[in-house]
Amino acid sequence: MNFYGRDFLKLLDYTEEEIIYLIKLAMEFKKKKQNGKRHDYLRGKNVVLLFEKDSTRTRCAFEVGAMDLGMGVTYLGPTGSQMGKKESIADTARVLARMYDGIEYRGFSQQIVEDLAKYADVPVWNGLTDEFHPTQMLADVMTMYEEFGEVRGRKLVFLGDARNNVANSLMVICSKLGIDFCCCAPSSLFPKTELVKKCREFARVHGSEILLTEDVEEGLANASAVYTDVWVSMGEADSLWKERIKLLTPYRVTKELMKKANPDAIFLHCLPSFHDTNTTIGKEIHEKFGVTEMEVTDEVFESKQSKVMDEAENRLHTIKAIMYATMKK
Ligand code: CP
Ligand code: NVA
Repeated sequence: MNFYGRDFLKLLDYTEEEIIYLIKLAMEFKKKKQNGKRHDYLRGKNVVLLFEKDSTRTRCAFEVGAMDLGMGVTYLGPTGSQMGKKESIADTARVLARMYDGIEYRGFSQQIVEDLAKYADVPVWNGLTDEFHPTQMLADVMTMYEEFGEVRGRKLVFLGDARNNVANSLMVICSKLGIDFCCCAPSSLFPKTELVKKCREFARVHGSEILLTEDVEEGLANASAVYTDVWVSMGEADSLWKERIKLLTPYRVTKELMKKANPDAIFLHCLPSFHDTNTTIGKEIHEKFGVTEMEVTDEVFESKQSKVMDEAENRLHTIKAIMYATMKK
């Protein structure tokens, strides 16, 4: 496998073998980290992290991952750089590529990260756009490997806003890895037909199925992994909360819903999550709409079945694997 110089923009660009290779590499990095083994194989290199939206996990995984690999890191937040305002994406990409050996981007349209990659002659990694969140799914599937040993033939069900970045990327990775993917949501929030069609073609080749259903019984039957995400994503209008709460309350992951999945099913969530009112937004939503939990109950979030903290940790190992694979000659 040779990934040197490649971008990581969306999982559609990667084959099953390549995705599995990156996950196994991440597992090796996890062992090294746990055993305190140095792995600063990219000493002397530098990466820049461009964030137009907030982040805890993705930013920290890139920063710690880069530092563990021996690299220098610059973080550029939503304000403070010239990008987009006084300087085009094309000029920003070319300037940064003269100084850095890799560029991470989190922001709005997928086109921006694709354009950065077009103009920068160093690897560009997608740290989340409105359309896709491809680094997240490597950590999700790695967590499934850790739990089940094998993922092929398992079923993952996504409940909630099924046309968001996380749901889109999950559908792609499942269809490429022979995992049955079920999108369980109101039909108005089903993923775009064109992407479903593409994923169904991959699924056919890799021996899995893509199911879209509004019915939670059908959705959760035989599920090994139950996944949800926030009901309103970054960049979407706050005015959407009212409608989403109404539409998605039947899809909240409760203990009763978990019982409809396999007895050994795990609960996954990319995080951050509204499972209580201990956040500013959580409190506001509670005051306005009277709900104390949104996409998942606190009970499920804190249960034994919940693997969300392993999943969050695995962001570090998988992002490190992506940087290493695309930067090491
Ligand atoms: N899951 C995830 O991407 O989290 P952050 O928004 O904190 O990076
Ligand atoms: N769908 C969420 C994912 C956050 C990691 C969002 O875009 O806000």
